[in-house]
Amino acid sequence: MRRWRTLLAILAAVVTAATMSPSPAAASDPVTPYVVGGTRAALGEFPFMVRLSMGCGGALYSPTLVLTAAHCVSGTGTNTSITATFGAVDLQSSTRVTRKSNYVYRAPGYNGNGDDWAFIRLASAVTLGTNIGTLPITTSTTYDTGTFTIAGWGSASEGGSQQRYLLKATVPFVSDATCNSSAMYGGDVIAAEEICAGYTAGGVDTCQGDSGGPMFRQGASGWVQVGIVSWGEGCARANKPGVYTQVSYFSAAIRSAATSLGG
Ligand code: ARG
Repeated sequence: MRRWRTLLAILAAVVTAATMSPSPAAASDPVTPYVVGGTRAALGEFPFMVRLSMGCGGALYSPTLVLTAAHCVSGTGTNTSITATFGAVDLQSSTRVTRKSNYVYRAPGYNGNGDDWAFIRLASAVTLGTNIGTLPITTSTTYDTGTFTIAGWGSASEGGSQQRYLLKATVPFVSDATCNSSAMYGGDVIAAEEICAGYTAGGVDTCQGDSGGPMFRQGASGWVQVGIVSWGEGCARANKPGVYTQVSYFSAAIRSAATSLGG
């Protein structure tokens, strides 16, 4: 069931990426949904946000590595087909920075269920500055609770089109017990590997095309990455919070993969 949803999500992301709509609503319209239920982000607000050409999000981990979801990539190995966009909220900005990939590392053992993380290595490093910066990952469970920020260029409503402008929202932590209750996911969440966030009433969520992007919060000294957009039933539905890869669980594996990839 979950594997099926993930496949559907990839299909949706690919299809929607090919038909990206450059028609954002007015930023002043208070009822227009963004991400789902969010608002537009400012340039430089989240300098680590990356848009990937297969229709996913990502977070800049180092000048040559983008952390994304395993379900956004096809496997480990040489891959020069992905374009990553940095330093912009407007994907059509003339000042955006782009890089091609040269290698993809997908979490070992990934089979469509859990282990939903991957690295994309850039053919050349990006230059860090005001609008391009890295996002440190959390290495402990300290920040695996509270209020999280989500952002992406994915659908602003279930079944909606991809966005030209980066959208953001905040969502509260949902415990594994609640998220796996019969009212919510009834045991489909892998408690150790996944972390849920959203409102019981729905209304605010990541959605198709946000996959691979970070969920983050303030840590001891700025933003820290707590999650990776992974899956959900529909988007922003009541009792169906977003499910995110729990970065703290994989932090040692992510760090050692980064080292083996050269940074
Ligand atoms: N798997 C989706 C993607 O490929 C992300 C789904 C997130 N869904 C949610 N309801 N939070 O973009």
